[in-house]
Amino acid sequence: MNAGPRNDISELVEGLHAQGWACLDQFLPNADSESLLMECMAAWESGEFRRAAVGRGESKVIREDIRRDHVLWLDEMQQSPALDAYRQKLEELRVAINRQLFLGLVDFEGHFAVYPPGGYYKAHLDRHQGTQNRVVTVILYLNPDWRHEDGGRLKIWITPGDREGASEWVEPKMGSLVVFLSGDHWHEVELSQMQRHSLTGWFRTDQ
Ligand code: OGA
Ligand code: MN
Repeated sequence: MNAGPRNDISELVEGLHAQGWACLDQFLPNADSESLLMECMAAWESGEFRRAAVGRGESKVIREDIRRDHVLWLDEMQQSPALDAYRQKLEELRVAINRQLFLGLVDFEGHFAVYPPGGYYKAHLDRHQGTQNRVVTVILYLNPDWRHEDGGRLKIWITPGDREGASEWVEPKMGSLVVFLSGDHWHEVELSQMQRHSLTGWFRTDQ
């Protein structure tokens, strides 16, 4: 199929298609990433975040040995021009993925995440036990001036279903985006020395 002119969206879709994951340096204009960071920090300062849990329903628990981030779901937030701009880009991405990979993605759920210094998230897959709704993970990083020694990198294992062997590292730099197949790629967040901000979400199917 002719994918049309190459742009950032087609680059991401091709990466997903060819290797199950892809990463882009600048998905949003700087002004939008900066606004998203301001909104994230304002909500953090006013205590709107909750400790992230693992599992779902009755078996949902706080496990600080597994993850130490705090989250605020987008559907609990006010709309804003920057969030609208991001949702619009995500919608383009969703349609492009469906067109090329036939994944039947119907919607998006997402949250801001803050990792305080000392935060991490041990190796995991993004699917809850017995569910398949989360198909593609999408993470936007919101950390200006992030330095290598600040840690907090995403480690993603590249062989589907495998948490050993070859892996890639992604630095959580301002405006960069990573996508991967949620059920295939084990990943973890290494210990972060600095407060780390991101917007994480999932394209879902309704099956
Ligand atoms: C998650 C996750 C990775 C990151 O929230 O499930 O794996 O780099 N986040 O923030
Ligand atoms: Mn994850």
